Formats: sequence, structure tokens, C-alpha cells
Amino acid sequence: MKPALRDIYDGFSATYEANRGLFDMTPVLEPFFAGLHQPHGRLLDLGCGAGEPFPRYFLDHGWDVVGVDFSENMLRLAARYAPGMRTLHADMLDVDFEPARFDAITCIYSLFHVPRARHPALFANFHRWLRPGGQVLFTYATKEYTGADEFEGEKEFMGRPLFYSHTTPARLRGQLDAAGLDAAAFDLRDIGGETFLWVSASRS
Ligand SMILES: C[S@@+](CC[C@H](N)C(=O)[O-])C[C@H]1O[C@@H](n2cnc3c(N)ncnc32)[C@H](O)[C@@H]1O
Repeated sequence: MKPALRDIYDGFSATYEANRGLFDMTPVLEPFFAGLHQPHGRLLDLGCGAGEPFPRYFLDHGWDVVGVDFSENMLRLAARYAPGMRTLHADMLDVDFEPARFDAITCIYSLFHVPRARHPALFANFHRWLRPGGQVLFTYATKEYTGADEFEGEKEFMGRPLFYSHTTPARLRGQLDAAGLDAAAFDLRDIGGETFLWVSASRS
């Protein structure tokens, strides 16, 4: 039987811990945080992993943070490195929150592991969970990473077959529009030698 993604991430946790801080995300993290113009607020981080760097940064700036991850071992790291974060051990597709609960949602290096057919429903949830004017930031895979305009399948990462899924940036824009999320930035960035699309959008 193929190993489940969550089991693979459980196995990755030691490597994640050894490589903490290797990727510098401050060029994305700091402008996103500054653009929220809020000294305090509520952040939802989906696929929070070890709780760094996004949840930890928001916590350090006085925000309340809820992190969701389906890997128990990654959440063990989060308890160590982002101890103030409230965590839910769950699939991001299975969680629900009251409407307008969050000022910001982040989904960093995790949405591309979710089948793209499920993205429109997740974007509708982002819209519902964000307060009006709230913002979302996520990393999206593109052909620069997978080699195909649209992709659904496995790619090797740290020696293991990981599931990735994405459509084209143009179709992604259509999905965000349909969910009532106004795309603010679509930036292809190379961080640590890996190129992904960094997308931010706000709830109208
Ligand atoms: C590449 S890591 C990124 C972790 C963290 N966001 C960061 O920036 O370092 C992806 C994380 O997403 C989690 N993940 C992937 N798919 C998920 C899903 N459907 N629901 C919850 N967590 C998921 C994995 O367990 C893993 O911790």
C-alpha cells in the first residue's frame, strides 16, 4: 500500500527540525503582515507543520493563531517552536469555523498537496472564515515546479513520493474570483531553490 502523505510528513519531522530556518521567507512574510495593518488579530494557518515561520511570527506580534495539520509529529514540533499556537490535528478539508472568525489565513507549502478538485470548496471556506477585508496568502505549485501546466500526481521530495496537484494560474484566478476573493498578488518566487507561486487575496 502507498504511504499516506501524513505518514510521510510524520517521517519528515526530524529533517524539518534539523533544517529549521533554512528557507528565508521574510521577503513574503513581512510585507504580508505589514499589509494587514493590525497590531492584533486572529490567524488561521493550514498545514502549519512545525509552526514556523508564519505562525511563530504572528504569535510574536501578539496575534492569536490556530494551526491545522494532519501530521502528529509535525504538530509535536509546533508545540516546541510555536507553543502559543492552538492546534487542531486534522485534515484541512475536514475543519470548520464560525463565519468571519479570522483576520488572515495562511496556507504555506501545503495547498499543493490537496487535490485541485477540492480547492474551490476550500476557497469558499476561506471566504466564509475571513472577516470582510481579511486576507489570505498561500503557496501554489505551477509548471515551474512540476513541469506541466496542470498536474496531479507524485513528485519526489526528500527521497519520498509526495502528492502534488495544481491547475493553471489563469484557472486559479477564476476559482478565487468565483469564491469572492480578490487576488492582490501572483508572484513567482524562488525560495531555497524551489519556485512556487505566492498568491495573496482579500475577502471583498
Ligand atoms: C511542506 S510542509 C509546510 C509546513 C509549514 N507550513 C511551513 O511553511 O514550513 C506541509 C505541511 O502540510 C501538512 N499537510 C499537507 N496536506 C494537509 C492536509 N490536507 N491537511 C492538513 N495538513 C496537511 C503536512 O503534514 C505538512 O506539515
